[in-house]
Formats: sequence, structure tokens, C-alpha cells
Amino acid sequence: MKKLPPNPSRRTLFKAIGALTATGAASSLLSSCTRNKSDDPAGLTFTEIPHRLDNNHHLPDEYRADILLRWGDPLHPSEDTFDPVKLDAASQARRFGYNNDFIAFMPLDSEAGLGENARHLASGNSARGLLCVNHEYTQPHLMFSGYNDEYSATRGVSAEHVAIEQAACGHAITEIEKTADGWQPVLDSPYNRRITLSTPMEIVGSAAGDQRLQTKADPTGKKVFGTVGNCAGGKTPWGTVLIAEEGFGGAFQGDPDNIADPVEALNHHSFGISPENRNWGDHDHRFDIEKEAHEPNRFGWMVEYDPYDPESQPRKLTSLGRFEHEGFTLACKPGQQVVAYGGDDDEHQFVYRYVSRQNYLPGQDTHNRTLLVEGTLFAGQFNEDGSGQWLPLVFGQGPLKPENGFHNQADVLIDARRAAALLGATPMDRPEDVETNPVNDCTYVMLTKNKRRTVANAANPRPKNATGHVLEIVPPGVDGQRDHVSDQFRWNTFLLGGNPNAEDPGERGAYGQQSPGNISSHGWFANPDNVAFDPLGNMWIATDGCEDFGFHDGLWVMATEGELRAAPRHFFGCPQGAEVCGPEFTPDGTTLFVAVQHPADSGRSTFDNPLHRWPDNDPNLPPRPSVLAISRRDGKRVGS
Ligand code: FEO
Ligand code: CA
Ligand code: CA
Repeated sequence: MKKLPPNPSRRTLFKAIGALTATGAASSLLSSCTRNKSDDPAGLTFTEIPHRLDNNHHLPDEYRADILLRWGDPLHPSEDTFDPVKLDAASQARRFGYNNDFIAFMPLDSEAGLGENARHLASGNSARGLLCVNHEYTQPHLMFSGYNDEYSATRGVSAEHVAIEQAACGHAITEIEKTADGWQPVLDSPYNRRITLSTPMEIVGSAAGDQRLQTKADPTGKKVFGTVGNCAGGKTPWGTVLIAEEGFGGAFQGDPDNIADPVEALNHHSFGISPENRNWGDHDHRFDIEKEAHEPNRFGWMVEYDPYDPESQPRKLTSLGRFEHEGFTLACKPGQQVVAYGGDDDEHQFVYRYVSRQNYLPGQDTHNRTLLVEGTLFAGQFNEDGSGQWLPLVFGQGPLKPENGFHNQADVLIDARRAAALLGATPMDRPEDVETNPVNDCTYVMLTKNKRRTVANAANPRPKNATGHVLEIVPPGVDGQRDHVSDQFRWNTFLLGGNPNAEDPGERGAYGQQSPGNISSHGWFANPDNVAFDPLGNMWIATDGCEDFGFHDGLWVMATEGELRAAPRHFFGCPQGAEVCGPEFTPDGTTLFVAVQHPADSGRSTFDNPLHRWPDNDPNLPPRPSVLAISRRDGKRVGS
């Protein structure tokens, strides 16, 4: 989702501006994953596309993109072809939701049944699977007729439209198959379902049941309806999917200063809850903090669910902490503790790591489903000399004591931001995806931008960071076999976003050891957001913000090792107004799924008068967030 400047007319989304806390001083690059190999694993021979800004998506000529799923597409045969004028909440809950973001492709083995998740995964089937997609947030001015602009729409939305919006948020599971005509949804699949703001969920982990999670509707503090702000996510080797709750604060309205408990007031302020937010609380009182002060504490978690069991209930995982989760991705080796990495996507917030108490045991799925319930959360400290530590968020240790307002582990997890700051974690330039390269086993942090930074430090080297950067975390060990459980690591700056030839030093990009001449005039990008690795370990970065520099958001791909380390090439571009999310490969690397989010969200574009109507270009249809399936026309690996 786009992060917006603190302009009252645009403070309407599920994102909000957080506290400003950073300090530090500039420093240098240090150790990295292997960077001097002469062999080039990249194999990135596609025809690079140019920077552009128009009303279409763009790919190299040797590729095709199937429009696979669009907002409103039916997920069940009982639903008619999408007609936005006839849409109601019950029908929306049986259709693909709005503003698609994270994508997980979960292979399907036609011989495997319920409970055989490992068998499905092991099949590696790259022609049939479950496409698991987040729906991050809604934009009533682009979804419904009759609204003049985003500000008035989000503050004056009707009860009927709130119900549709809440059914359009969350997540979708759709069986898909590759046919002679390209990828298609399977509408009569028993796996197809939606997760919305009405879906019952269990709250598990170290904060479950705490009094700060209890409401009038749920005195147990262990049951909640729905999920919101679902940005990125992750997958587990035991066949479940993780979905993040990012900008949940914007779903709540009310004045934190009217809450009697000062700890709760501070908490709600830190997530941007304000009387100016969208008006869902007028029609659904749990979203008004002055009526239900604890409801926001039941959001801002990671959620785990089983896509292979359509009857299963999602669970909110409180041991992974509460903040604006971009996502959590696993670095997981058989017989060892599970490590998961994630970011808190707000200015001057932190990078986190979670370590399970027990070990991952392949095949023992009942045991494995406890691994994200019992464990320890850590926040990252990135030192000036290229070393780093993971600092544990454990009640009673260091400053996490009653004198600082922490009375138990639930307080530490609910107020993870405040705990991490007290521990001395390093405030970062909006940490988005954090993901481990399966080939070299190093971990990469996307830092999208932070125009509010006034003082640089080694890990965030630019004040007023407009273009973002990428850090490489190097745990102890050798490439391919690194110790992610260690509390110590090395780190370095993998690249600085921006144009390597920009005159303004604040916007001048630096791509590792590449000289500017090695990056084409279309190879540079700004604002890294999501990241994926293909089977060869190439890094595919999705951007959110390049329109500020005059061209579309899209995908750029590069090697992480060898002579072409950090030398991006431009592969995909979005229609104007959109950012690109997702990227996700089939196991064989021959299909790449991408989510085009908020197309035509630009200027005064509305449902009644949109900037464009991608992807249908039909005068009776609005622009629609959509997932594309990208493949080479000759069927070879994407990128080659
Ligand atoms: Fe929803 Fe952090 O982008
Ligand atoms: Ca984003
Ligand atoms: Ca994102």
C-alpha cells in the first residue's frame, strides 16, 4: 500500500504516520555474502523494458501475461459475472477481493487429501495449485459510484458500502490450473474460499487471553472476527500460509486522548488512530475506539491458516508481536529451530526476527503448528561497524519491566514498538519485505523510503531518504549454510535506490560495486517494497513509489552474487496509479504471479471518472486490481 504524507486529505487509508525517533551517523560497507564468484548464476537474458508511464502493463516481448483474477471475479459457480452496480456484501464475500497484495502459490497433488499438506508441497506441481492472495485495503471512491474523491468517500461511506468493503478485505484462496489457453481459476474447487473481516479466528501465543485483548463481545480475549490491512506474508514448510496485518490503524476511528488508560492512548496514537480516519466506526461500533478501546489490540498480528483445509480456522500469532507487519518469512532447516524475519512498515520502526522454542521436524505437522506459537521475538540492532545483534523482547529483561509500563509478556508483545525502542533497536527507513535467498542463505531487507529522517546512520545512510535501499544480513557460517539462530550477524548495504546519475546526491542511487555505466537508463528503480527469489537465487524487487520519479512501478531483477551482483534489469511495469505486489514463482520458475494494486489511483480519479479502466478497458467497468500470471511464450524459466 502507498504510504502517504501527513496531508489530512490523504490520511484515509489503513496506513498512518508513526513516531519520529531516529538518530545515528553515517558509516561504511562491510562483509557480504560471496560477491567475487566469476560464474554468473543469473542467466537473466530477457529483453529489458523501458521506464514508462501509461495506462497499461508492460513486459519483454518474449513473455505473455494472463489476467488471472480481478476484483469481483467469482470464486464459485453460483456467482454471476461481475457487475459493480449490483454488488452486495454477501456476493462480494464469494468473489475475489480488492487491492490484491501478497501471493502464495501452494502446489496441489491430485492424489493427496486433507491433512496431507507436506505431500502437496513435495509434489512441486507447477501446473495446478492454490493461489493465496491478500486483499490489503479498500478505496470506496474507486469501488462505488457517487463519491467525488477519496477524502469524502472514506469519511462518508454508507453502511451498505462499509459491509461490501469489509467483505472485500482479507484474503482469497482460489484453485488455479495451467491450460492450453493459459492459467485459469477452477470455479468449482472445494478449496476456494474468502477470508474477510467477518471470518472467525482464534488468538494464540503468549498474549492470547490477556485482559488488553478482551472486549465486550469477547470476554475471553481469544476469539476475533477477521483480519485487515493484509499486506505481505509468508509460507511455512508444513504447508500453512502467513498473512500480515499492516496498516490496521486506519480502520479505526475515535480520539485516543479520550481513552482513560494512558498506555492504551499512547498505543492507539502510535498506529495513527484518529477522529479523522475513515468512518467505519459509525456503522460498525467495534471500529470506534471510544466504544471499544481494546478492539485495535486484536489487530496488528501475523495470521496463520491452512489453505489445504477449507474448514480450518485462521489463528492470530501473538508471539510474533504486534506492529504494522509487512510480512514474516521463514528461514527453516530440518531439526533446527524455526527462524522468521519481518519488518514494521513505518518510518523509524524496526526489523524483527522470531526464533521458535522447539525444532522444526518434517512430517510432524501437529508439532510444527506450535512453532509459531511458542518462541521469542527479537528486534534488530544494526551497528556502525557492520555488526549486528538481535535483542530479545522478553518481559523482565533489561528495561521491559513495570517501571516502564510492562507488566507481563502480553504487554511486551502488544507494545512491541515501544519495547524494541527501549531495548535500543535501530529505527529504520520503513522496513517492508525481509526475505532469505534460498541459494546463498543471506537475508535481504527492503527499506522503501523515509523522507522524515533527519539524521543518517550506517544502516540508514541518507537523510530525507526518498528512494529507499536494501540491506543484506549475513548470519554466521558459509553461503548456503548460515546460522540464523545466532543472535549475532554482519550486515552491509546491498544497494541504494535511485538514479546512479542523479545530480541530487540524496536521490543518487548506488548499486553495490556496479559503476553507473553498468546499469541501463531503465535499470534503476526507487522504493523497494516486496521481494522474491527465483529458483536460481535471483532477486526480484517490486516497487511502490517510482511515479514520484516519472515512471511506472514494476519489477527489477538482479543477481545477489558474482559480477552482476546488484545490477538490476527492468522486467515489468504497471499501469499508471498502481504499485506491484506479490511476486511469487511456481516451484519450477516457469510462471511468475504478480499483483497489480490500486490501478488508476492517481489525481482525481474516481469510479465515475477514472484515469483509465485497466485491465478490461470496458466503459461499464472500473479499473480493477488484478493478479497476472507471467510466463515465457516458449515455456522456459522466467528471467531467461
Ligand atoms: Fe502494504 Fe508495506 O506495503
Ligand atoms: Ca507498499
Ligand atoms: Ca508492501
